[in-house]
Amino acid sequence: MSERPLLTATAITRHYGTHVGCEDVSLDIHEGEVLAIVGESGSGKTTLLNCLAQRLAVTSGQVSYRMRDGETRDLASLTEAERRFLMRTDWGFVHQNPADGLRMRVSAGANIGERLMAVGDRHYGRIRETADDWLSRVEIPGLRIDDRPTAFSGGMRQRLQIARNLVTHPRLVFMDEPTGGLDVSVQARLLDLLRGLVDALGLSAIIVTHDLAVARLLSHRMIVMKNGRVVETGLTDRVLDDPRHPYTQLLVASILEV
Ligand SMILES: Nc1ncnc2c1ncn2[C@@H]1O[C@H](COP(=O)(O)OP(=O)(O)OP(=O)(O)O)[C@@H](O)[C@H]1O
Ligand SMILES: [Mg+2]
Repeated sequence: MSERPLLTATAITRHYGTHVGCEDVSLDIHEGEVLAIVGESGSGKTTLLNCLAQRLAVTSGQVSYRMRDGETRDLASLTEAERRFLMRTDWGFVHQNPADGLRMRVSAGANIGERLMAVGDRHYGRIRETADDWLSRVEIPGLRIDDRPTAFSGGMRQRLQIARNLVTHPRLVFMDEPTGGLDVSVQARLLDLLRGLVDALGLSAIIVTHDLAVARLLSHRMIVMKNGRVVETGLTDRVLDDPRHPYTQLLVASILEV
């Protein structure tokens, strides 16, 4: 683990008019670390994630990121071109609803290949080979490479979205309820797969989930949110085994199987 954080957020606040989305959230994430953001519905998880990932403007606060060249930049100071480049290369974003993260009208292979082309790969044969390899890594049969995601099940779509995001070897992946819309057995398999990929690739990830079992399985550290604010943060095992804030105690107690 590198000594300087990969991403640092300082006092992130996002209001929607008079409504609080999230308030005064500070966190950092190191290379190779998986951070879970948990909390009940409406606690501000998605708002925070979108602010971190530069998909939503902050009302106040700052996000800085250590770029590939080693320089730490305030993300608000990036040009639009730099921001887009970061999103296409260094970052991945996995949406809860795969349709939001896939192009539903083009083939599975093209969904993966498009990201490679965005980072400059122009060699058709190699792109197709890589796409094929990634399909197998996410357990989608290679013979489905020319099918569109519309012909895939929910679980397959989510696995394709993950492949599309990981193919460019991002350093940091944001995920919003990646197993959210899936039924339980499909969730379990996807979680296993995700855990394997995160380990194998040494990924850093920020994962939003309301499911403490997901946080337990995937994350090293977690933050617990309530009403837009962080109420507790710590190593995942510590927070789940010895929750200190009454709200976290309530969350943990309400999910006995964790
Ligand atoms: N576009 C919006 N306009 C107004 N208020 C919003 C908007 N998006 C979110 N909010 C409010 O901000 C707060 C946090 O919402 P957010 O979607 O971040 O919560 P969440 O923790 O992701 O919830 P869930 O688990 O249901 O996805 C809520 O009170 C919500 O009503
Ligand atoms: Mg949400």
